[in-house]
Amino acid sequence: MADGIFIVFEGGDGVGKSTQTSLLAEWLADQGREVVVTLEPGGTAIGATLRDLVLNPSWGDVSPRAEALMYAADKAQHVYEVVLPALKRGAVVISDRYVDSALAYQGAGRELDPDRVEQLNRWATRDLLPDLTVLLDLDPSLGVAGIAEKDRLEGAGDALHQRARELFLSLAERDPGHYLVLAAREPIDEIAAAVRERVASLLSPA
Ligand SMILES: Nc1ncnc2c1ncn2[C@@H]1O[C@H](COP(=O)(O)OP(=O)(O)O)[C@@H](O)[C@H]1O
Ligand SMILES: [Mg+2]
Repeated sequence: MADGIFIVFEGGDGVGKSTQTSLLAEWLADQGREVVVTLEPGGTAIGATLRDLVLNPSWGDVSPRAEALMYAADKAQHVYEVVLPALKRGAVVISDRYVDSALAYQGAGRELDPDRVEQLNRWATRDLLPDLTVLLDLDPSLGVAGIAEKDRLEGAGDALHQRARELFLSLAERDPGHYLVLAAREPIDEIAAAVRERVASLLSPA
C-alpha cells in the first residue's frame, strides 16, 4: 500500500513519546529523509475537534462505545488525510500513538470486547500497520500519576492505566519483529540511540 516507513511511539501518558518523536525526527531529517511528525488523536482538523470531544473532562459521562468510535473516527481521517499520502510519497511518518492505544485504553482500559475494538480500528485504518512500534514502558504510578492537570483519559484512574500498560506489553510480545520495547526512565539520549539503531535497520535492511 505504501513506499515510506511508518513508525509509531506508544505507551502511557508522560512516558516520553513526544520527546523521543522529536529526537528521531531530527535525526531522520539530518539523514536527508522527508519526515512527517503527527499524532493521535488530533493529527487533522477534524481530529483536533475529536480530540477535544474525547479528552475534555467537561463532557462528563461519555459512553465507552462513543469514546471508542470517536477515537476510531480520528484514526480514519488521520490515515486518509495524513499518513497514507505521506507514505505514498516515500516519507517517514512518525505518529505519537496509533491503533495500539485504542486497544489499550478503549479495549483493556474501558473493558470493551478487545476483538471488536481491534476490528473497528483495523477497518478505520484500512489495515495499515506500522513498520515499527516503539513502546516506552513505565509503571503508571511513575508516569501519568505525576501529571498535575489531567485530561479525561489521564484522570481515568490507576486501574485503567495498569490494564492499558499490560495490554501494550502483550501486543509487543505477540509480534516482536515489529516492536521495540524500552524502559521509559532510562536516560533520554540512551533511549534515542536505541531507537535510532532499530530505525536504521529499517532504512537500509541488511
Ligand atoms: N527518559 C526520560 N527520563 C526522565 N524524564 C523523561 C524522559 N523522557 C521524557 N521525560 C520527561 O517526562 C515528561 C513527559 O515527556 P513527554 O515526551 O511529554 O511524554 P509523553 O509525550 O509520552 O506524554 C517531560 O517533562 C520529559 O522531559
Ligand atoms: Mg506527548
